Amino acid sequence: MPGDGIGPEVTAAGRRVLQAIAARFNHRFEFEVQKIGGTAIDATGTPLPEATIASCERSSAVLLGAVGGPKWSDPNAPIRPEQGLLQLRALLGVYANLRPVKVIPELAAASPLKAEILAGVDLLIIRELTGGIYFGAKTRTTDSASDLCVYTVPEVERIVRIAADLAGRRQGRLCSVDKANVLETSRLWRDVTNRVMHDEFPEIELETLLVDAAAMHLLSRPADFDVLVTENMFGDILTDEASMLAGSIGMLPSASLGASSRGLFEPIHGSAPDIAGRGIANPCGMISSTAMLLRYSLKLDDEADLVEQAILHAIVAGARTADLVRDGDKTLSTGEMTDEIIKFLK
Ligand code: IPM
Ligand code: MN
Repeated sequence: MPGDGIGPEVTAAGRRVLQAIAARFNHRFEFEVQKIGGTAIDATGTPLPEATIASCERSSAVLLGAVGGPKWSDPNAPIRPEQGLLQLRALLGVYANLRPVKVIPELAAASPLKAEILAGVDLLIIRELTGGIYFGAKTRTTDSASDLCVYTVPEVERIVRIAADLAGRRQGRLCSVDKANVLETSRLWRDVTNRVMHDEFPEIELETLLVDAAAMHLLSRPADFDVLVTENMFGDILTDEASMLAGSIGMLPSASLGASSRGLFEPIHGSAPDIAGRGIANPCGMISSTAMLLRYSLKLDDEADLVEQAILHAIVAGARTADLVRDGDKTLSTGEMTDEIIKFLK
């Protein structure tokens, strides 16, 4: 689903990479292209048409560009592009959103942080994706508004188990982020996390941080983190912040997983209407998302590794889109950057 803004440009890049992988490994991937977001509202009146839902349900994996844009962002609009994405996440039951942040040393100059703080940063933020304030009841009158935040014990248990399991395959450290000094949902989150970790994952080192402190520690000592787990909105905010470690939000991929192998894969960036249609968007976040798709939904680990290596090789060789260039670098278009990455897939 290309979606809106730069979505179609980066999705085309992701698809080219998947085709290059198919050619190299003798696979055959069948693609269906469907509408979501503002583009879908314009064509059908709804941000998640029935045809899109049916197509997702018969697919092995779902790849998505981005949704949203000024055309549909009137605060009083009853139908919004983002509703389509939230509905899709809920329908697919993809409650665990994996957002890895790995600093490529060659991109340290693109980050606003000092290179010595960035050394060795390799963290994974697990964002709960189908609960919390994003999905609670909303009210609006002329002089007030409310958004309800709800978490249930099973919702917290399952996300903590996924995070702890992933930590066990990495450095064995998990940091749970909440706001337990203020929010009741966070106090439940903390109780459940402590119990699950104590009873089921005694070998994993658990740290707990309040979200305001976590926002600071992500900038002051990012290399100390291994896996972080947090609720939906904190995860949304902290991952945009963490993208600055990698040099650009255009670098970060995500995988949204649930009980079945069918995941939803999307770069964490938005539709970037300011640069849409100009062919200058960074395709790396999308291309890394295709690596996660290969790994988690198609169980093609070698193929996923190769895509990740190809991005790294292209960057080390000096390939840079506009968001990454520093003085003297040549600026590549979305298509040229994709060409450079595909060279390393052959
Ligand atoms: C993201 C985006 C979405 C979110 C928006 C587009 C609804 O910001 O995937 O991080 O808030 O989850
Ligand atoms: Mn976001």
